[in-house]
Amino acid sequence: MNPKGWIIYNGYLPGNKFLDFAEWIQAAALHRNVQTKIIKNNQLLTYLTNNSLDIIRDSTITLPDFVIFTDKDIYLARQLELMGVRVFNNSRTIEISDDKIASYQTIAAHKLPIPKTIVSPKMFAPSVAFDPGDYQEAINELGFPMVIKEAFGSFGEQVYLVHNKQEMHTKLSELQGKPFVLQEFVSTSYGRDIRLHVTGEKVVAAMTRHAQNDFRANVTAGGKMQTHQPTTDEKNLAIAAAQAIGADFAGVDLLFGPNESPLICEINSNAHIRNIYDCTGVNVAESMIDHVLACIESGGSL
Ligand SMILES: Nc1ncnc2c1ncn2[C@@H]1O[C@H](COP(=O)(O)OP(=O)(O)O)[C@@H](O)[C@H]1O
Ligand SMILES: [Mg+2]
Repeated sequence: MNPKGWIIYNGYLPGNKFLDFAEWIQAAALHRNVQTKIIKNNQLLTYLTNNSLDIIRDSTITLPDFVIFTDKDIYLARQLELMGVRVFNNSRTIEISDDKIASYQTIAAHKLPIPKTIVSPKMFAPSVAFDPGDYQEAINELGFPMVIKEAFGSFGEQVYLVHNKQEMHTKLSELQGKPFVLQEFVSTSYGRDIRLHVTGEKVVAAMTRHAQNDFRANVTAGGKMQTHQPTTDEKNLAIAAAQAIGADFAGVDLLFGPNESPLICEINSNAHIRNIYDCTGVNVAESMIDHVLACIESGGSL
């Protein structure tokens, strides 16, 4: 019998792009005769007692053979795993990917190339003890302009470029209490990057993104997409990055370093797939489903 799956997305986010992503995956599963149910995270309540771990849900919803998790609800993903369900991507991968600090630490521990990065010391809330002068060493190491990136953010919205000490101090004062990194600005990559979609051990689609008036290449920041034939180096790096965080599928962003040598910018564990389809005609959902089915058939050992 074919396995049955759930596709989970976040029921609290506005707009329909999250449901759209889930529906693409559902359609790809149906192509392979695999039935899936799309469920919002807020339809599933994680329930813990002294002798059970369960999920309170509608009585018609039975536990699936696998879950494709398009959300970042790490606790829910982990609950499903604790109940014995295989979750794609797994909760640990989602957790690392969601947190840019954890991501850079993991990538650096695998000795993969990244821009030089300095991590903010933990601050619980805006603090009277805060002194932007704490970061003088960072200026010496990274220089200006400098990238400041919140640990939690997406669509380029929490990524900033500061050009001098004054701008840096203003931004740091605004970010008090939030985790962030200070990062070397890779000027050769101004306004452009490469997005590669990795599934399993393959790069299945790639595009460059180029913004005219912004250092960030995100499509939401005005980046124009162009289909891209990745070099062997780019492909190997994207695959190594995805594997470093244990991802079954990922959207890996690479920066153009000196001489166009690739550097890892970030790894998205729940990268949306409509833009890459519009640009390249590749439906990444198809290879995601193929990978999930191959893992299930092999007993999860892939
Ligand atoms: N160190 C850097 N040097 C140059 N450009 C960068 C750097 N870091 C990020 N960018 C640009 O900003 C964009 C957004 O950064 P990213 O880390 O991918 O955050 P997000 O999760 O918001 O997409 C990247 O796609 C890239 O174009
Ligand atoms: Mg990005």
